[in-house]
Amino acid sequence: MLDRLEQQAPDALLALIKLYAADDRSDKIDLGVGVYRTDDGATPVFAAIKQAEQKLVDEQESKGYLGPEGDIGFVHALMPYIFGKDATMGGRIEGMQTPGGTGAVRLATSLAKQAGVTRVHLGIPSWPNHAQILGDVGLETVTFEHARPDGSANVDAVLGVIRTGQAGDAVLLHGCCHNPTGVDYTREDWAAIAGALADSAVLPIIDTAYQGLGHGLEEDVAGMRSLLAAVPEALIAYSCDKNFGLYRDRVGAFYVKAQSGDQLDAILSNANALARANWSMPPDHGGAAVRKVLRDEAMTKTWLDELAGMRDRLRWVRERLAQADNEVPGLDLAPLGRQNGMFAMLALSKDQIGTLRDDHAIYMAGSGRINVAGLTKHNIEKFIAALADVTS
Ligand code: LMR
Repeated sequence: MLDRLEQQAPDALLALIKLYAADDRSDKIDLGVGVYRTDDGATPVFAAIKQAEQKLVDEQESKGYLGPEGDIGFVHALMPYIFGKDATMGGRIEGMQTPGGTGAVRLATSLAKQAGVTRVHLGIPSWPNHAQILGDVGLETVTFEHARPDGSANVDAVLGVIRTGQAGDAVLLHGCCHNPTGVDYTREDWAAIAGALADSAVLPIIDTAYQGLGHGLEEDVAGMRSLLAAVPEALIAYSCDKNFGLYRDRVGAFYVKAQSGDQLDAILSNANALARANWSMPPDHGGAAVRKVLRDEAMTKTWLDELAGMRDRLRWVRERLAQADNEVPGLDLAPLGRQNGMFAMLALSKDQIGTLRDDHAIYMAGSGRINVAGLTKHNIEKFIAALADVTS
C-alpha cells in the first residue's frame, strides 16, 4: 500500500537551510528562511527569554497536561499587545495557544471550514505554506494580486474580492510585515478594507507573525485593530517565532472575535476539538516563557528593548538597500525603504538567483524573496556588488 506514495520534493524554503549549511565558502550569505540575525549573523536566544527560562527551571513544579487550549495565561498576556487596552473588545475575543503561527493558521482555517467557509481569497505572492495549508484543510484557494509593480499594496484588488464575495468566502490577510513582499496596506487602505468587510459576508482571517518588526508594536497592528473594530467576526493567527525569537519552540496563538460574547464558548469548543484531533495540546515551554516575560515589568522592558534593536537594524538594512538603487541599475531597490519587516522580493530571474548562489555564495528563495535580516554591516556591500554583477 505505502509503495503507492510518490516521492515529494522537500519544502523549497526549508531545503535552503541544508544547502547553505553544506557550502564551505567562508563569505557565504544566507537570505533564505526567515530568522532574525544580528549584525554578527547570529540568531541568539533573547535575553528576556533566557531569564524567563531560568525562572521556569527554578519554579515550574509540574509538566502535567494543560489541555488543548495550552497555557491560557500566555494567551491572555499577549492580548493587550495585539488588541489594545480593551483587549477582549467588549468580551468578544478569546483565544488558545497553538504550535507556532502555522498551527494557528491551520486552526483558523479548519474552524472556518467547519463553520461553512468553502473558499479563501489569498493575495499573492504569499507565504507558500498558506496555500499548502488551505489545500490540506480542503479549502479552495482563490488568488488576487497583493502588490502593485511599483511596490505598493494593491488595495483595489482586495476590495474587489471583498465587495463581490459571498457567504462561504473568507479572505486571508497579513496583519503586518507582509511575507514575502514587505508591502503592507496603509492606514487608509486598512480603513477601506474594514469598511468593505463590515458590509460583506466575507470572513476575515488575519495572520500576524511579525508584530514589532515593522514600525513598532502598536503601529504594526493599528490597521488590524481598526479592521477588528469594524467587523462582526474575525479569526486571528499569531506567531511568537520572530518577535520572541522562539522559532523551534513553536509558540503561537489563535484568537477569535465573535459577534457576541455568548458565542465564544461554542466557537472555542470547536477549536478545542480540532486542536485535540490535530496535535492534542501545544508544546508548553516557549509559551510559558513568554508568559513569564510579559508578567514581569523588568523582563518586559528587556524584551521591548531587544525588539526595538531588531526593528532598527532591519530599518538600517532597508535604507542601505534603497540607497543602493543607483548602484544596481538593473533592479528597483528604492521601494524597499518604504516596505516593512523581514522580507523583500527582488525581481531576479531563476538564472540570476542561481548565479548569485553559484558564483557569490548568496542563498535566497527561488521566488526572489530575501530575508533582509541576513544582511549585515559585514556583508551588505558584497551583496549589493553581487546584485549589480548579475543584473548588469
Ligand atoms: C519564512 O517564511 O521563512 C518563515 O515564516 C519560516 C517558515 O516556516 O517558512
